[in-house]
Amino acid sequence: MHEDAFKPLRFDPYSDEEMRQRAMEYFEKMRTRRSVREFSTRDVPREVIENCLRTAGSAPSGANMQPWHFVVISNRELKRKIREAAEEEERAFYDHRAGDEWLEALAPLGTDAQKPFLEDAPWLIVVFLKKFTFDEQGKKHKNYYTAESVGIACGFLLGALHWAGLATLTHTPSPMKFLNEVLERPKTERAYMIIPVGYPSRDAQVPVITKERLGDIATFKT
Ligand SMILES: Cc1cc2nc3c(=O)[nH]c(=O)nc-3n(C[C@H](O)[C@H](O)[C@H](O)COP(=O)(O)O)c2cc1C
Repeated sequence: MHEDAFKPLRFDPYSDEEMRQRAMEYFEKMRTRRSVREFSTRDVPREVIENCLRTAGSAPSGANMQPWHFVVISNRELKRKIREAAEEEERAFYDHRAGDEWLEALAPLGTDAQKPFLEDAPWLIVVFLKKFTFDEQGKKHKNYYTAESVGIACGFLLGALHWAGLATLTHTPSPMKFLNEVLERPKTERAYMIIPVGYPSRDAQVPVITKERLGDIATFKT
């Protein structure tokens, strides 16, 4: 093996007390994240978005293939095109594609086919999943665990954006094929989600929901 293939791990240990405090502080911050569907048009500095994307890019991935690509949009015309195409899909979804059970699950969220946030939010991050990676010789390699990897990167991204003080939505119009065309991405990539990013509008509301308690989501075997 090449002699510089490994290097000492950089790892910052904390005392138990510090860890308890840090874990609690992170939870207290993350529990205030909510999906926002009403955005202000107020600008957000590009540098903030860039650093949150760097965090996303640091995520683990199957065989380190990093099977993601982020298209980051502030261009008004592009946002308008995305809104129009998404609303068309959403109208079809709400009118006949979604079954009764799906519509019932969505009812408490009060969502409908109108997606003004796709134009109002200063930034849209469209996440693409790369089914294949091309090496330096242009050879095509199939990526593994792509959905898991991109999901983790999106989790990192949502966490970083919230930590930075920004509001987000995880938006998945179905189907999302139109995004390849509008954003000129290759067929080897699949649109995974749209993340509008910005500030909530002054009078933004969120549905009252609950999160399951620790005892319901985790089983400890000690
Ligand atoms: C994979 C995924 C897809 C989602 N798609 C949509 C969507 O298309 N539109 C929407 O308004 N919310 C969408 N959401 C947001 C969920 O409705 C929201 O996360 C959930 O109701 C919990 O609310 P919270 O994010 O405020 O905790 C999606 C969330 C996830 C994780």
